[in-house]
Amino acid sequence: MEYPGENEALDLDFFEQELGLLDVVGPKAREIIGQDCDIVSACEARPYPLVVDRARGSVIRDVDGREYLDLVAGIAVMNAGYSNPEIKAAISAQLEKMAHCGYGDFFAEPPLKLAKKLRELSGYSKVFYCNSGTEAVEAAIKLAFWKTKRQNLISFYNSFHGRTLGSLSLTCSKVRQKEHFPSIRTVHSHYAYCYRCPLKLEYPSCGIECAKEIENLIFRRELSQEDTAAVFIEPIQGEGGYIVPPPEFHKEVRRICTDNNILLVADEVQTGCFRTGPFFAMENFEVRADISCLAKALGGGLPMGAMLADSELMDWPSGVHSNTFGGNLLASAASLASLEFLEKENTENRVRKLGSSIRQRLREFQENFSCIGDVRGLGLMIGVEIIKPDKSIDPIRRDKILREAFKERILLLPCGDSVIRFSPPLVITDEEVDLGLEKFEKALKKAGN
Ligand SMILES: Cc1ncc(COP(=O)(O)O)c(C=O)c1O
Repeated sequence: MEYPGENEALDLDFFEQELGLLDVVGPKAREIIGQDCDIVSACEARPYPLVVDRARGSVIRDVDGREYLDLVAGIAVMNAGYSNPEIKAAISAQLEKMAHCGYGDFFAEPPLKLAKKLRELSGYSKVFYCNSGTEAVEAAIKLAFWKTKRQNLISFYNSFHGRTLGSLSLTCSKVRQKEHFPSIRTVHSHYAYCYRCPLKLEYPSCGIECAKEIENLIFRRELSQEDTAAVFIEPIQGEGGYIVPPPEFHKEVRRICTDNNILLVADEVQTGCFRTGPFFAMENFEVRADISCLAKALGGGLPMGAMLADSELMDWPSGVHSNTFGGNLLASAASLASLEFLEKENTENRVRKLGSSIRQRLREFQENFSCIGDVRGLGLMIGVEIIKPDKSIDPIRRDKILREAFKERILLLPCGDSVIRFSPPLVITDEEVDLGLEKFEKALKKAGN
């Protein structure tokens, strides 16, 4: 989303005057937004004035009783759908017993059962629990520093790894997220964004030069491999624009890490938990990272993050790292129920099939809407890049399409400079997909081609 200007607040006036959206929502929503803007920190970036009340499956109802089809799942969180009966039952059963115990101090069964499930799904033998994506990434930074005794990192342009100071050092998405904040030393390299190749090359004749930059440029001019603890990478860049690299890219980064004795950390916070088909998105590229980070969908709607590695790597001693809520009993119960549900529903195959049929249909829209420059994705992580006739980015039109979609009562979100993302609940039905695409087509028409 384009942020309001430096002195402009994201408040009722902004939604009314700048976006012309307040007439779309009801009186209760207006009242809540007015009060919220007065009392809650205004640093969030909200694209439209939705005030949620309840939800089921893929449908959210707002406080005035209006229903919206959710095509973003609370930013790739509600993979098993809202009000999933199996997750609700697991939470209720655990609530009857105990909500929290301070798992950093005591032992308990729910986080252990979840750890066994994670070991089975991921192949990693150890897990560290936390509560969010940024905390999982912070834990991975600390483990990498602790293990290698090196203190520099590599990540990629357009990447998003979180907003606390360690993960923010890796993040390289929007300058507003970084300005005025100090950082851990991180050198950024080019990601394989083939639609807008940063090196102005063409795939496949490029030979994946972008990945090779780490050796050819960074290790020669800026950062010795001897001082590099880890390379952090998203299997598909999420906030940066749903950018899917070609198959060889991750293999090449993996090779460079192995050859130079550097840890590879996969940030699967957005891509993990079957979002792209397999449990980890890295499986699509046949690459295994030394450390993987999970959050978002992991908790089935409750806050839950995890950092996974093998025991030879995660052999730090007691007292090095911990937190209050990691392994929370309710979140562990919800997480296990969510993973078991997704596993038994044969999610991987469904996500692959549905994802390719949605991408196919969005590509058909491309023939009628010249503002659609690119349709890309894996599984149910799909990006539509909006462009001007000269192929340059068009964030103004992108935001207009998002607002028209909201008026049509479908929820979509922006990412990257000029991309619309689709990341619906993985349980979305075929009929809901049809309806969602029909409404998206209307929104494209209304936003003008
Ligand atoms: C790839 C990735 N890593 C980390 C994060 C940060 O997660 P959280 O917002 O839970 O801190 C996000 C959030 O969007 C993400 O997409």
